[in-house]
Amino acid sequence: MRSRPTNGPTQPNSTRRALITYLPLGVVAGIFGSILTGAFRFLRPVVAAESDNWIDVLPLTELSGASPITASITTENTAGWSVTTEQHRVYVLPGTNNQVLSAVCPHEGCEVSWESQVNKFSCPCHESFFAADGSKISGPARRGLDPLPTRVQDGKLQVQYRSFENNSRERITRT
Ligand code: FES
Repeated sequence: MRSRPTNGPTQPNSTRRALITYLPLGVVAGIFGSILTGAFRFLRPVVAAESDNWIDVLPLTELSGASPITASITTENTAGWSVTTEQHRVYVLPGTNNQVLSAVCPHEGCEVSWESQVNKFSCPCHESFFAADGSKISGPARRGLDPLPTRVQDGKLQVQYRSFENNSRERITRT
């Protein structure tokens, strides 16, 4: 009786079985990894990019006089397909080349208001007071009100909204 010729060394059965078992698992894991990475990139909040947006404040024709003018602006935060909006109060200073100040108190984040009778901003939470140009007068706040970047486009004053760290002497932009 003649034996059949063999084509080289044969693989042990256990190695072949392991390869058949783990190869598809590796492929599936790779596919899921790619999908999860893509989903994370797509869904994470895009905060930094939003803070670079220019937002209309008021037409230049409405900006006159010596007193700060209050305005409400809306920012958008995008997380994947979800867009949320937030309202923020700002003050325009027509007497200071239309500088715009955030109304967020730099002490602990309450909203300041303009008191025209006494010609200063006041914070209702812990009684910080600020001059008409935003500089600190008194109270626990450690710096003046925060100015925001501005530009004029198509006859409108625009602003880039920022928020800053509370209760610090330096002005540190939050990211
Ligand atoms: S939050 Fe304005 S003084 Fe404290």
